[in-house]
Order: sequence, then C-alpha cells, then structure tokens
Amino acid sequence: MTDPAPPDKPLFTPGPLTTSRSVKEAMLRDLGSRDSAFVDTVRQVRDGLLSLAGVSTDDGYEAILVQGAGTFGLEAVISSALPPKKKLLAVINGAYGERIATIAEVHDVEVVKLCFAENTTPEVGEIERLLDEDPTIATVAVVHCETTTGIMNPVHAIGRVVSASGRTFFVDSMSAFGAIDVDVATWGIDFLVSSANKCIEGVPGFSFVICRREALLATKGWGRTVSLDLLAQWKGLEANGQFRFTPPTHAILAFHQALQELNAEGGVEGRSTRYRENHVALVQGMRALGFQEYLPSDVQGPIITSFLYPDHDAFTFEEFYERLNNRGFVIYPGKVTQANCFRIGTIGRLYPDDIGRLLAAIEATLSDMGVR
Ligand SMILES: Cc1ncc(COP(=O)(O)O)c(C=O)c1O
Repeated sequence: MTDPAPPDKPLFTPGPLTTSRSVKEAMLRDLGSRDSAFVDTVRQVRDGLLSLAGVSTDDGYEAILVQGAGTFGLEAVISSALPPKKKLLAVINGAYGERIATIAEVHDVEVVKLCFAENTTPEVGEIERLLDEDPTIATVAVVHCETTTGIMNPVHAIGRVVSASGRTFFVDSMSAFGAIDVDVATWGIDFLVSSANKCIEGVPGFSFVICRREALLATKGWGRTVSLDLLAQWKGLEANGQFRFTPPTHAILAFHQALQELNAEGGVEGRSTRYRENHVALVQGMRALGFQEYLPSDVQGPIITSFLYPDHDAFTFEEFYERLNNRGFVIYPGKVTQANCFRIGTIGRLYPDDIGRLLAAIEATLSDMGVR
C-alpha cells in the first residue's frame, strides 16, 4: 500500500465538487449489483432523497436513480414524461433552461420558449398568461438555481400557477437540491431532477428524479428511448431493487455516505447555512478587492456567484485562471452571454476558511498581474 495521494486542489466550481475523505473512502468496496447489501443501499438512498424533498412513498412520491450525468436525468424526464402532440413551455433565463428546450426539440416535442434576461427572474404573470392562452401546453419546465449566473428562480410561485392550471410541473433543481429547501408536494412539483455530485456532495455517476407516482404512471407508452425510459427504470427498481443496466455501484456507496453527512450537518438547513456563510465571505472579500457581482443581490443564491471582469487592461481571465490554478485554487469560467464574467462556486466540502484562502490567493494573483 502506498501513501495516500496529496490532497487535490479545492474546487470552487459548480461540480464535480470537493468531497469529504469519508465520502471517497465509502467507494473502497466492490459490491455486486445484485448483492443484497447494494440493493439495501439503493433503497435507503431512494428513501433518503424523498425525505429531503419532504415527501415519502406513502404520500405518493417516488425517487428514481438514473445512470449518467445530470443531463441524463433531465433527458429521462423530457423523453419519457412529456405527452406526444402536446407542447412544453420552457421558462428560460440561462443556458440550462435553453438546454431543456434543446433536449425537448431533439425528441420532437414542440417547445414554447419564454425567455427572460439572464440577470432577471421569470415573471410569473407571463407564465400564467401563456397557460391561459394555449391549452396545448401540457408541461412547464424551469431551472431552480440557474447555474449560468447563480440566480434563484421563484419555483414556489411558478408551481402555484402551474398547479392551478392543471399542467405538469418539471423542475431542474440540479445545483440547488440538498442545500435549498424544496417542498415538492406544496410547490406542486411533478418531476424534479438533481444529481449526485452537487449539493449532496457525492461523486459523479448518476442523477435522480423525484416524482409524483400518479404523474409517472400517466406516462405509460410515452418513452422515446430505452436506456432513459423513466417508467421502465422505476418498474425495474421496484420489481427487485436492481437496475436494468449496470449501476454506478461505487458512486451510490459514496452518495449513501454523503446523505449521512448531510443529515449530520443538520440536513438542508445546516448545509444551506454553511453555503450562505461561504457565499457571504466570498462576496465581501471580492468587493474589498474591487470586484462587482453580475447579479443584483436580491436574486443571487448561495451556490455560485458570477463576477464581472475588472475594467483593467492587464486583466485577462485566461491568465487569472492559470495563475490561480498554479497557486492551488480552481475557479470557473463565465457562461453569461451578455457580459464578461467568471464564476466562483461556494458548494462542496468547503468552509469559510477555504474562501479566506482563495481570497488571499486572488489578491496575490491580481498583484502578480499588475491589476492591483
Ligand atoms: C442547473 C443545471 N442543470 C443541468 C446541469 C447539467 O448537469 P451535468 O453536467 O451533470 O449533465 C447543470 C450542471 O451544472 C446545472 O447546474
């Protein structure tokens, strides 16, 4: 046995994220996919996810694990839970809302795009108006935390009008679930997708769908693929606790551990508190260094923050990124279409002290570049 590898650089990104040592250690096993220990673990993970969403199987909700990245979970819902010959209303204020529309179009679903500026939240009244006008819209999709900027969309308020209109409500809560309270039943959410390597702090390998059982059962015959057929995936898991195709056994073991660590931290509330502390420390420190956030603070969430490039000839993002990386800190490029930004994530196994070290490295980097 060789010595453990030196710790990797902390990841101030939207995922994959820095994970705890114990989450990584949980993967030091080789369980067969049909082993009862693995089947039990999958059941516990599914129940744990429902409990985080404030629901249970007794209330009529199901948690379904889907192999692959977060986008695979989104595509599983879009390709198998949208009725043929009906439209999807995609509420868009960033790249991930656009992605939902793109996936739907690939599967021949007619999409009505309702677009808002990347630094503004969707207007609920506009959604209500479109739903009143067009009875052929069957489903409304929105991104919870639009990771393009870090903006928090008003899922609860949108859910209210979608439920009242009798349409199906689909939420991409990829970068929020586990750290932002989501009340699936009260908010009228029929399908919610998130993934293992975001706020629950597992490792990449699968996404998951939390859904209302009746809404799921209504999708019979709508599946447009084999591997991403959500109803078939659920039926497989229900039949014998096993996956239809090779499961990411190690990632599920890590996730099981990550769920226990989330509970030990005080659940969603505890995690949210730490991420908010990280975010506040970051914004205060960045402002002190002369940076400005892209978003107004009333719509900014604690997950990831977009900062405008400083107005200085000596600043290029590529050099800034490279120098910070050489100092041992990994940040993220921007994704906003209308402004020059970079992003810093405050999720994963990071604490305010880590933010303090990052800020010191940013200050030194700016000085090396002659920007300060
Ligand atoms: C809101 C949102 N949706 C979808 C995705 C895509 O997830 P993945 O890259 O795991 O496919 C991300 C990734 O960051 C995201 O933040």
